[in-house]
Amino acid sequence: MLMSNFLRDRKSTREYKNKEVSKDILEKVIDYGKEIEKEIGDENFRFLLLKNGDKVYKTLEGKGGYSGVMIKSPHYIALETLDSSRDSIIKGAYAMEKLITKATEYSLGTCWISIENVDGQIKKELCNNLDGDVNYILAIGYPTPKNPFIQEPDSCRLSIEDIVYKDEIGKNISAEELENRGLSDLFFYVRFAPSSFNNQPWRFILKDSKIILILMKEEDKVSFIDAGIIMYYFENMATAIGVTGKWNLINCEDVEVNGTSYSYIGEFNI
Ligand SMILES: Cc1cc2nc3c(=O)[nH]c(=O)nc-3n(C[C@H](O)[C@H](O)[C@H](O)COP(=O)(O)O)c2cc1C
Repeated sequence: MLMSNFLRDRKSTREYKNKEVSKDILEKVIDYGKEIEKEIGDENFRFLLLKNGDKVYKTLEGKGGYSGVMIKSPHYIALETLDSSRDSIIKGAYAMEKLITKATEYSLGTCWISIENVDGQIKKELCNNLDGDVNYILAIGYPTPKNPFIQEPDSCRLSIEDIVYKDEIGKNISAEELENRGLSDLFFYVRFAPSSFNNQPWRFILKDSKIILILMKEEDKVSFIDAGIIMYYFENMATAIGVTGKWNLINCEDVEVNGTSYSYIGEFNI
């Protein structure tokens, strides 16, 4: 499927059929996960299949998800980060979106679930012990059919003007310049990436032949998980428009503009 269509049409699935995913498909997804671990960094993260969704749901009911609203699905995949560094979280999130893309090919729905505030002992019991930590799990299963007569509300997205700047944070870039540089579609579609609480903390600065990714801090925290997710979609959308490249992670001091703090994450050559 075209990456632009994939991004435009993707949505988190919160209602699943009460039906297990076939053994064959589940194995294919997990085998692909193993490949991704090796490719992106098995020293940074690993995926754990939590096959018994009932057990996970019962254990995390009232504890996992936004305000303890747990999502019920036949299976879950835990993202275990092997250390708490920025790079491990970013790589893990990037890899999880790659796995989600594969799951979608098998008509599976998914939804990230935050379990940051769940007790460490409970997480260990769920995952049969852990070397690192699990702050996010992915619900995975067959989505319940949508009623074609009911238009479901879309999660809203910021506009391109709100997230793309020229040369420095806060300095607007014209739609014409983005169009002339062939970047309009790229920024239009990456906005559909999922983010925690739909916060969409990503901001991009176009500077000469580079795009710099910065993340807006919320309550003095930067969500590296959201950084990894947007980096995955950005690279894939860029490839789709003929710009091949990879993000380089950068280390720069945080900046504060008009009372908002931003962290520098990476650079992409265009
Ligand atoms: C890191 C992360 C954590 C999330 N945690 C939850 C969650 O705990 N519960 C939930 O219902 N949705 C969760 N979501 C889904 C987001 O709310 C959703 O992606 C966002 O609102 C945009 O909606 P969409 O994915 O349907 O486009 C999470 C998403 C991400 C990326």
